Amino acid sequence: MVGPFMPDDEKVPAIREALPATAAGIYLNTGSAGPLPRETARAMAELEGIELRTGRADLAYWKDSTERMNEARAAVAAVLGTELRRMALTHATTDGMNVATWAVDWRAGDRAVTTSLEHAGALAPLWAVRDRQGVELAIAHIGTGSDPADVLAALDRAITPNTRLVSLSHVSWATGARLPIAEIAALTHSRGALLAVDGAQAVGAIPVSVEELGADFYAVPGQKWLLGPEGTGALYCAPSVLDRPRLTFAGYASFESIDQTAEGKPWPDARRFEVAGFHQPSVLGFARSTAWLSMYVGLNWIYERTARLAGEAAEMLAEIPGVEVLTPRDRMAGLVTFRIAGWAPGPALHELAQRTLVIARTIPPLKAVRISVGFFNTEAELRRFCDGVALVAAHTPETIPHRARIEVLRGGMD
Ligand SMILES: Cc1ncc(COP(=O)(O)O)c(C=O)c1O
Repeated sequence: MVGPFMPDDEKVPAIREALPATAAGIYLNTGSAGPLPRETARAMAELEGIELRTGRADLAYWKDSTERMNEARAAVAAVLGTELRRMALTHATTDGMNVATWAVDWRAGDRAVTTSLEHAGALAPLWAVRDRQGVELAIAHIGTGSDPADVLAALDRAITPNTRLVSLSHVSWATGARLPIAEIAALTHSRGALLAVDGAQAVGAIPVSVEELGADFYAVPGQKWLLGPEGTGALYCAPSVLDRPRLTFAGYASFESIDQTAEGKPWPDARRFEVAGFHQPSVLGFARSTAWLSMYVGLNWIYERTARLAGEAAEMLAEIPGVEVLTPRDRMAGLVTFRIAGWAPGPALHELAQRTLVIARTIPPLKAVRISVGFFNTEAELRRFCDGVALVAAHTPETIPHRARIEVLRGGMD
């Protein structure tokens, strides 16, 4: 059993025991999907069993579902330091970014602004408004270093008086750099535009206080750093958008009441951005994983350990001859992106996965490999992974020896 005040030498093994997937390899891909807590999987299976045996249609089930959805909204609100009424549930980060992007009353000739380091989660909805509404899309070019002054200068040039929306990530999926969201929010608002933030690589990895950041929308995934199931997420909606009666997409879930003549009263809170039902075992899993992190593991402990381990991983990688770390060390979260000289990322990751059983991913636009360092990782795992990187970096795809595989694996799976 994990407790917030356990000493680390007891707590880390207990955490790893609670996250069985950490034994499947060196788990360095929480940026895609985090390891599911045993307790979350158990609760989801139990609810699935109840659904199977008693059905999903009686009044008690409906009441439980309503409470469960509030539990999930409240659990994310606690992580983001906001109120329950400002959180809507979604099915993914991208779902929330679509709600935010279409919340604007677009007219032909309006402008949307984003950056050159975005994931499709922000870009794809912008593509759709450009295609459908004749909106001009400006991409502010920011280098991999994402120096805050350069980022703000690039956005300052891109945000023209006809800009209605600025849409970008808190932490870049590609470089792992943190962007100065509070300053970007101030700039965006000074030009009369809305700010939508993709928090996929931030929430659960670094402290996020949405009220202090000042974004109008902030989209969160359940399945990444919050260790929830797939198909879950949430969207923070600031008073700036809740004070306007406009809906984006709409369904029975958006309304307090709606009659046969389509006269209706949307919810005054963020539920007005929800549309219909959710898979209840997933909602339960989302709430349980998020609450497990807050109540049992401890958010501050998570943030401190993630920052320390990710920083150490970046240092170790940077010391390996032939390795170039792209993630700026002074504004990182849990992601570390790097290149190995002479290696394309795909073959490099293939070699690394074979030799160290690492679970990671490539970042094709940067021709780089990305690892996601979580609070559940150990120093020993990171050293073993870096031994693997050093081995790959010391060779070319043609010269790498076949039997070296055994040497790196011999470290064991602690
Ligand atoms: C920055 C960023 N945004 C969005 C996504 C997509 O997340 P989701 O599947 O929750 O929409 C990812 C990762 O998959 C990401 O890294």
